[in-house]
Amino acid sequence: MSLLTVSTVSELREFVQHAKFKGLSVGFVPTMGNLHAGHMSLIKQAKKHCDLVVASIFVNPLQFNDKSDLTNYPRTLEQDQALLTENSCNLLFAPTVDEMYPNGQESQTIVSVPDVSMGLCGGSRPGHFDGVATVVTKLLNMAQADKAFFGEKDFQQLAVIRKMVADLCIPVDIVGVSTERNSDGLALSSRNGYLSTEELALAPALYKALQEVATAVQQGNDFVTTLEQTQQRLNKQGFKVDYLSLCRVSDLKPATADDDQLVVLIAAFLGSARLIDNLPFPLNRTSD
Ligand code: PAF
Repeated sequence: MSLLTVSTVSELREFVQHAKFKGLSVGFVPTMGNLHAGHMSLIKQAKKHCDLVVASIFVNPLQFNDKSDLTNYPRTLEQDQALLTENSCNLLFAPTVDEMYPNGQESQTIVSVPDVSMGLCGGSRPGHFDGVATVVTKLLNMAQADKAFFGEKDFQQLAVIRKMVADLCIPVDIVGVSTERNSDGLALSSRNGYLSTEELALAPALYKALQEVATAVQQGNDFVTTLEQTQQRLNKQGFKVDYLSLCRVSDLKPATADDDQLVVLIAAFLGSARLIDNLPFPLNRTSD
């Protein structure tokens, strides 16, 4: 079956309702386009779990706190359609800004998720997660799919969406999909396209640093010292680290030695690109 592209909410709803009427399950993969193998792993998971797969492409102005970032965000619809076709996606929803915000962005009701939106990217990008939570609520309500798939690379975003769906009783299963990486460890991201050849060679150091932090913490080294030393080293290598934090997986609060599921998260500038990555790991405390 070839890819069908629609741009209105009524066409999207009609497709999903028709599928459900026929007893078929629907998986939903919301994206901002400029698709790559990371997005395709979401499509593949959706195909595995559901009979039909719907993707959306919408560069959401509400979640960009930096207007030039919004203007420069890569828009590659034809290329994206080809990739979705290749990966047997059934429907693409590609709405305009007016379709998503018919009453204007200024008077849009905002969904704000407390606690888990604070700090990390929420601290560095004020309003970002309100924009994400608002658009994802709208997209989930528009699509009314059975399951929705999000990448673990955006670890805080996934936590925000899980809490929002639980708190607002949105009837959809949220499925987290593990991060897709190059063979050198670099997490796939649309923002890698902003990197020069030299920066691309340096970028995998970010994931190596996360692995080193995880090992050092598991070996019993002090959290604060480990993070400080790693951050200093990355800054010397040419990154500008925005944050490097060790949190507990459950609610992204700062990790303590009593927690057993931790995640180390990083955001760092490399040239003009702001890269994020994370590594969840267990902390096996040895009993004395
Ligand atoms: O992760 C993204 O691509 C976006 O933040 C999302 C979830 C599609 C909302 O615009």
